[in-house]
Amino acid sequence: MKTILITGGAGFIGSHVVRLFVIKYPDYKIVNLDKLTYAGNLANLTDIENLPNYTFEKGDITDGPWIQQLFDKYRFDGVVHLAAESHVDRSISNPMEFIMTNIVGTVNLLNAARAIWSNDLSGKRFYHISTDEVYGSLGDEGKFLETTPYDPRSPYSASKASSDHLVRAYFHTFHLPVVISNCSNNYGPFQFPEKLVPLFINNIRTNKPLPVYGKGENVRDWLYVEDHAKAIDLIFHKGTEGETYNIGGNNEWQNIQLIQKLCEIMDQKLGRTPGESAKLITYVKDRAGHDLRYAIDATKIKNELGWEPTIKFTEGFEATVDWYLQNEEWMVNITSGDYQKYYEQQYVKR
Ligand code: NAD
Ligand code: DAU
Repeated sequence: MKTILITGGAGFIGSHVVRLFVIKYPDYKIVNLDKLTYAGNLANLTDIENLPNYTFEKGDITDGPWIQQLFDKYRFDGVVHLAAESHVDRSISNPMEFIMTNIVGTVNLLNAARAIWSNDLSGKRFYHISTDEVYGSLGDEGKFLETTPYDPRSPYSASKASSDHLVRAYFHTFHLPVVISNCSNNYGPFQFPEKLVPLFINNIRTNKPLPVYGKGENVRDWLYVEDHAKAIDLIFHKGTEGETYNIGGNNEWQNIQLIQKLCEIMDQKLGRTPGESAKLITYVKDRAGHDLRYAIDATKIKNELGWEPTIKFTEGFEATVDWYLQNEEWMVNITSGDYQKYYEQQYVKR
């Protein structure tokens, strides 16, 4: 029986990872630690919350003494660390939250793992989930490799880069058994509707403008979230200690092309005349420091661990649209209250 801590398990990717681990490993005890910030939502986990190998702990990774108590209580064998402030736009308006959670929070977890594992590191693993944004911005050519020098350019990516460096430092200095992965943009069910895909689905559904930053020329590499969760499972169990793995969809889209595609699908799903949803497209002031292009070279994880995306983009994207349309209540519940204030500040008072 292994006891595994998953941080940020009430968020978008974390909820898919928790679900996968709880169902696939009934002999593991899975502890989900989450602060339940605006982005954390236990409604993402209602289907598995009563399973006997699942436990939820509400807490803040910036609270070092509390984290240490949690590790003393459960004596975790492994950590899968996803908890983070994750939205680039929020990092521009409020960088300090990102420094605290993404950097200080990660160090608290590293220290707590080090303290309880100090006598016996065998079978232990600290897995830090990171992003391709640490590598900076690409031009028209090339892709990010694991060896690409770090060049973070937003407070979000700088805080993630910093946490990656600290995780590596604990490996080299203290021999903590770590592994890291850096993934491209995820899409799929349960993503908070401040990120491009769910935000635009919701705006099309409710006939609101679609705020495209700049000229919509920026490129992202999109991966279905369940494929990311499968890669995380593989790296956690089979990845080599001290190594980094890049994870990507090999699926680049210019924002405006992705949005046009989304509008076409939404027209079909909502029985609208072709072209109707695209009329909502509105070009707005660009994101400050907006990275032009991200693209992942995922050769290493393919060659070493045999991972490749399994969900074709056309299928995953349509399934994602269907999920948001069928789960209107989920969307309505989280797009009230504080979210409304954020939305007004971000898009109206420019
Ligand atoms: P998310 O914002 O949906 O979820 C983050 C979760 O962390 C939430 O449940 C939140 O409540 C929790 N959290 C935040 N601060 C906390 C704190 N101080 N203490 C405890 N819990 C806290 O994020 P996501 O999109 O699911 O991303 C998860 C991880 O994956 C992040 O580390 C992110 O950097 C990384 N990542 C995301 C993507 C993507 O496309 N979304 C791609 C690559 C990597
Ligand atoms: O690359 C991985 C990263 O992907 C993760 O590390 C981040 O946690 C995740 O949020 C995501 O970052 P992005 O900034 O790429 O995602 P976002 O959904 O915010 O934006 C995607 C693209 O769409 C980006 O080029 C900005 C643009 N955009 C976004 C929003 C919210 C718009 O044009 N309009 C918008 O309203």
